[in-house]
Amino acid sequence: MTSPSPSNPVPATPPFGVALGQGQPKDGKQGVPVPSRVRVHHLKAWKERGERISMLTAYDAVTARIFDEAGIDTLLVGDSIGNTMFGYDSTIPVTLDEMVPAVRAVSGAATRAMVIADLPFGSYEASPTLALASAVRMLKEGGAHAVKFEGGAHLAEHVRLLTRSGIPVVGHLGFTPQSENMLGGKRVQGREEDAIEILVDDAFALQDAGAVMLVLEMMPSPVAARITEVLAIPTIGIGAGVQCDGQVLVWTDMAGMTDWSPRFAKQFGQVGAELYAAARAYKHEVAEGTFPDEEHSFSS
Ligand code: KIV
Repeated sequence: MTSPSPSNPVPATPPFGVALGQGQPKDGKQGVPVPSRVRVHHLKAWKERGERISMLTAYDAVTARIFDEAGIDTLLVGDSIGNTMFGYDSTIPVTLDEMVPAVRAVSGAATRAMVIADLPFGSYEASPTLALASAVRMLKEGGAHAVKFEGGAHLAEHVRLLTRSGIPVVGHLGFTPQSENMLGGKRVQGREEDAIEILVDDAFALQDAGAVMLVLEMMPSPVAARITEVLAIPTIGIGAGVQCDGQVLVWTDMAGMTDWSPRFAKQFGQVGAELYAAARAYKHEVAEGTFPDEEHSFSS
């Protein structure tokens, strides 16, 4: 298969309707064969080679298929589904029963990306065995390849049990949205000297327990750079600077679906405006009686 390089860029336009889902070459890394499925050993190898890892959130089969075809390496079925899809004002109300069908939809659509399922608030904190039971649902019912949960050293035993049970775990440090009530709202973490040391210790504790990757959210870039430098496992930043081993964005922010997005979330498209325009054009043609025309009708 073809790997992207300056002379072979990833196509800017998706192969809709022609090759989408029909074996179109997908994004690989410099001169390295494209893995048929991204797995934990690829993540580590990419870090070692300095090749950055892409992650987007996905919550349904339609977007998962597009992002997978676009070569996104890992898809996170985040509990941000609460804010983005369910209209909650935080991730806290999200339940395991709400997450599992979304994980199933994404894992059913993605053929290359590693699918990571977020464990929602209340589904893991109380004990390693609770975390294992929730993670097992994500793999058995959802078809996920890994799970993610928020927190530091105090969850090392949770990570250890899941890892021993064959479930790859992604950690999440810095601003952890499920703890926003303790953290005093959406605030950058790790600004004080002792906070930096705690973050580094947390990162090591998770790595030592077997975590395969860490998400670093909303922390000063030098802090994320330091964690990235000292760890053997990859870091994925969101509002954590460019020195991380990869980046994640909530897809609705990335695609410009909302009026507001956080400062760190660059909009790479204006899909919301496009969708609005399509809906307006459709409404207009329905009102005018010009849709459906001959081409979109059955004459016999
Ligand atoms: O739920 C989510 O989307 C996340 C990302 C912000 C990392 O945890």
